[in-house]
Amino acid sequence: MFYSRVIGVASALPDQIVPNTYFERYLDTSDEWIHKRTGIRNRRWVAEDESGLVLVTSVLKDLIDLYGSPDALIVATCSPDKTLPSMAHRAAEQLGIHGLMFDVNSACTGFMSAFLQADALIKTGTVNRIAVIGMDVMSRLVDRDDRATVVLFGDGAAGVMMERSSKQRILSHHFDSAINTTNLLIDEGSWLEGVVPKISMRGQEVFRLAVRQVSQSITDSLNHAGCGIDEVDWFMCHQANQRIISALASGLSIQEDKFYMTLSEYGNTSSASIPLGLDHAVRSNALQKDQLVVLSSVGAGMSWASSVIQWR
Ligand code: UT7
Repeated sequence: MFYSRVIGVASALPDQIVPNTYFERYLDTSDEWIHKRTGIRNRRWVAEDESGLVLVTSVLKDLIDLYGSPDALIVATCSPDKTLPSMAHRAAEQLGIHGLMFDVNSACTGFMSAFLQADALIKTGTVNRIAVIGMDVMSRLVDRDDRATVVLFGDGAAGVMMERSSKQRILSHHFDSAINTTNLLIDEGSWLEGVVPKISMRGQEVFRLAVRQVSQSITDSLNHAGCGIDEVDWFMCHQANQRIISALASGLSIQEDKFYMTLSEYGNTSSASIPLGLDHAVRSNALQKDQLVVLSSVGAGMSWASSVIQWR
């Protein structure tokens, strides 16, 4: 039995910044409403001819330049520009690497699902080094005329490189999903009907489920790791709504500033949000070697997952 650890992190964002005021021009909304109800000020959106593949390839290149080529790549995404071949395979081809390549889709829980698969692949000795990248271009999945969803989402990619380790740095995982919640956050319409699916969400129900399940998942993952909540240096949670984070902090009796936030500038980037937070936290020197971090996410399904890790 081997252990695994995260050895590095990288991210790539589109250049185009879309401020809340952009939506004021054509929707019945305001910067004040969006910021007050969500905590979001800006998000990045890809240009019309820009592909998510460019973002994945950029993150992968940075990870390879810094840490060497991996034996495997998992891309978590619910918005690939095409399904075949996988985003992972196409990005790998551009950089001349080969090995185990596949995509996973569990919406905003995508990065966490890929992360725990990567940990298992290393622990079983199947691979030595693996890149795990979350990428979503949610701007292509939202209905631009639906004020209730279009303001929430942003585009981006970020990922980690993981490697076999002699020390245990990934301490636990917790994951689960609910039954009878597949209708809370869905693609309305389907390719079968000749319609490009667009996101539709029962916001308040998703909000309540997110607070309840992420809170339980954090507690369960910490219990499983044998760690107390007070020992945690950072909570790196999926970025969907500042009020969800405030509710988590108050329910778990944690100071809110222990939740690392990128929401205000990038919105909800789905599969990218957790590694994007890690990358920012490293770049700003907030996240330091040996610190204890809880990663936690919730997404369409609904599903949720948490991991307790010791940083590098
Ligand atoms: O990553 C997946 C996880 N996703 C989430 O976790 C999202 C969870 N849900 C939420 O974050 C919140 O429910 C929303 C931000 C989506 C909505 O906030 P809310 O405080 O729950 O608002 P609401 O849905 O109760 O809507 C209140 C009002 C409604 O108008 P009426 O019916 O009271 O007249 C909405 O139509 O706000 C209206 N509204 C808006 N008004 C201005 C909805 N969107 C907007 C908008 N601007 N952009």
